[in-house]
Amino acid sequence: MAEWKSEEEIRCIRKAGKVVAECHDAIAKRIAPGVTTQEIDRFVERLMAERGARPAQKGYLGYPYATCASVNEVVCHGFPDTIPLQEGDVVTIDMVADVDGWKADSAWTYSIGRPRPAAARLMDAAKQAMLRGIAECRMGRRIGDIGAAVMHSARQTGYSVVTSFAGHGIGRSIHESPEVGNGGPAGSGMRLEAGMVLTVEPILSAGAGEIWLDRDGWTARTRDRSWSAQFEHTVAVTEQGPVILTCL
Ligand code: MF3
Ligand code: CO
Repeated sequence: MAEWKSEEEIRCIRKAGKVVAECHDAIAKRIAPGVTTQEIDRFVERLMAERGARPAQKGYLGYPYATCASVNEVVCHGFPDTIPLQEGDVVTIDMVADVDGWKADSAWTYSIGRPRPAAARLMDAAKQAMLRGIAECRMGRRIGDIGAAVMHSARQTGYSVVTSFAGHGIGRSIHESPEVGNGGPAGSGMRLEAGMVLTVEPILSAGAGEIWLDRDGWTARTRDRSWSAQFEHTVAVTEQGPVILTCL
């Protein structure tokens, strides 16, 4: 069952969303060659604490860190570590802030220093796919319309979608119904209504888009070691159209 949120509850999720956006903004200014993802993880935990928020991923289903840090061919759910980031790497930082029990979720892919042209194209394509998906978060559309728009956008730009991972409803819990698949088909699934809060979080890959899970049970990598990029926002479906809750 999907959960519908009141305007007041959406304002609560928005507060958590602002904290997540501030963390991403701070990361963007700080990330550089030589920085480690463990430093970013600790930095995020401190920024959240200063804002009265808790990193909701930490301890969720046993996940051990505040952030997911997924470098190059790691698709998602990578562990922060002590390896210095290098010029040209791409790293996706994914985080969920909890403010007074309400959660907001956003991921962003960063390039370290100047991106290689192929990485810049991949990141642009992933951001565009997310925005096309968000544009479908309107009353009367169906869940499958979001995934269909994502898939269409990815194909147009020449990338594959990693369909093993999906967006989701979010609110008091990180993962609520419905699942927001990244494939469609258009016209399928639950009808969208005002008060639904969803994440739109496509992962695009330069290769086939198939994945392996590492032995740690979390780190997902592309089988063909091609690089991937992901952008994610938490979005409310409202009478006025889609409203992104994870922005400044
Ligand atoms: N933020 C992730 C998402 O977009 C959730 C990660 S689950 C965790 O769905 F266990 F890694 F935290
Ligand atoms: Co996320």
